[in-house]
Amino acid sequence: MPLLKVREPALNQLLEYAQRTNKPTGSATTTSGNPIVEKDASLTAGPRGVILFQNYDMVDELAHFDRERIPERVVHAKGAGAFGYFVVTNDITQYTAASVFSAINKRTSIAIRFSAVAGEMGYADSVRDVRGFAIKFYTEDGIWDLVGNNTPLFFVKDPVNFMSFIHVLKRNPVTHLRDPEQFWDYLTLRPESLHQTMIVYTDRGIPDGYRHMHGYGADTFSLLNDQGVLVYCKFHHFTDQGIKNLDPQDAIRIAGEDPDYFTRDLYNSIAAGNYPSWRMFIQVMTQKQALESPFDPFDVSKIWPHADYPLIPVGKFELTRNPDNYFADIEQLAFDPAHLIPGIEPSSDRFIQGRLFAYGDTQRYRLGTNYNQIPVNNNVRVRNFSRDGKFTLHSQNGAPIYHPNSFGGPEPDPRAKALSPEFPIVGNAVRYDNGNDDPYSQPRVLWVRVLDQGEKERMVENIVLGNGLMALRDASDFIQNRAIVNFTNVHPDFGRMVRDKLSAQLQFTAQL
Ligand code: HEM
Repeated sequence: MPLLKVREPALNQLLEYAQRTNKPTGSATTTSGNPIVEKDASLTAGPRGVILFQNYDMVDELAHFDRERIPERVVHAKGAGAFGYFVVTNDITQYTAASVFSAINKRTSIAIRFSAVAGEMGYADSVRDVRGFAIKFYTEDGIWDLVGNNTPLFFVKDPVNFMSFIHVLKRNPVTHLRDPEQFWDYLTLRPESLHQTMIVYTDRGIPDGYRHMHGYGADTFSLLNDQGVLVYCKFHHFTDQGIKNLDPQDAIRIAGEDPDYFTRDLYNSIAAGNYPSWRMFIQVMTQKQALESPFDPFDVSKIWPHADYPLIPVGKFELTRNPDNYFADIEQLAFDPAHLIPGIEPSSDRFIQGRLFAYGDTQRYRLGTNYNQIPVNNNVRVRNFSRDGKFTLHSQNGAPIYHPNSFGGPEPDPRAKALSPEFPIVGNAVRYDNGNDDPYSQPRVLWVRVLDQGEKERMVENIVLGNGLMALRDASDFIQNRAIVNFTNVHPDFGRMVRDKLSAQLQFTAQL
């Protein structure tokens, strides 16, 4: 066997296999494990004749091939993932009784999948987009999925608006092209999207790989301690590799030269033992603070200011193992914000409420009824009253399929019950469109206090020219004007700079 060449680990995968096994693998078989006679020629009537129907091994392989693709994720289709551990570094038991945080140095196995939101499975990694940052914790209480992004907030905040927002990010159904007209039309009609839109068009809109970005749970969760006291919480994960972004022109070049740039970087760094890690923090808000808050703490288009709600260190996680098989381990990973453990609950954040339904629903379609029995999606033996369905793997040892029963079947968990207190629901039922609940103050803070002059200029240029996402210059004039009004509401300088850049573009185009 040739020596492994000094080149990136991803290119050595097959050589490594050969060195590891160091001998022929054994007989090739059909999918039912029966040895096959010949792999490279089908069974024919003579050298030039037809193929015989009894050529089962070929039929077996063809039929499997015909079914090798499953529906890709409706969003976040392109991604990469890996495995590792989470370790508690700081005591937060005063806020939550969740077993994953119960003791300093406690370790929990995790899987992470990073992704880009808008494009399809074959999308280039280095486009301008929000990145997904989903973590699966294999806890002793079953799965906890913290399904976040690399931004602390979202474009819209009522799940009823999520589908429209995703539609304008995706292809126009007639042209089958991404469409700046529909994109900027929608965003400018929903000014609550301003804050997130600005962030996507800043330098952070194109990270230099998944290792160089932060992650955020974004939604507001509830934490319960062992006294049953409830606080609200946001999760933050800060990269130990440091934030690094790609210059848009480099990103566009890389999109052509190596569309899998982020995926390659993650695989190679883990394979080389250069394990990426992040530190986890929480922000905490009491129920009293939530009642008195000048902004809606359950509005996912807003952040909680760090000065008022400081970051509390919690732990660290590190990715130490690449998947054995991408499809089995990563494509079949099913993250679901409804997978929660005792001590962590949803809140009245509308978005998290909508998300509690959508993920399991799509995964039953994408992966099948028993998707939670796929090994990568579960670490504990499930004890419930459901059986059957495609690909049932567990019999549950003959336990009753109804409750109550007289035969010692599983019972609800008293600890989970204790950590699930009554909570009041108030207010009259009404369809309240909260899109105009002060969409400008927080984007103004971003403009005035966070971005320096260079960052402002680059953001404005990215908005107007697109630089990896849809360009405002390609939208109709009336949409551009509406965008300028919205940006002016954030800050007059912002509106003016976008207007000037657009007119410069117009003059430039007129000269061509
Ligand atoms: C009402 C709002 C939302 C709905 C209806 C929704 C729906 C979905 C659906 C259907 C998927 C595909 C899941 C799969 O096929 O396994 C998905 C994936 C994802 N969503 Fe959402 N989503 C919403 C909001 C959000 C927000 C606010 C975030 C981040 C803060 C987020 C982060 C993600 C991530 C990271 C994935 C990919 C998970 C993976 O890697 O498998 N989503 N979402």
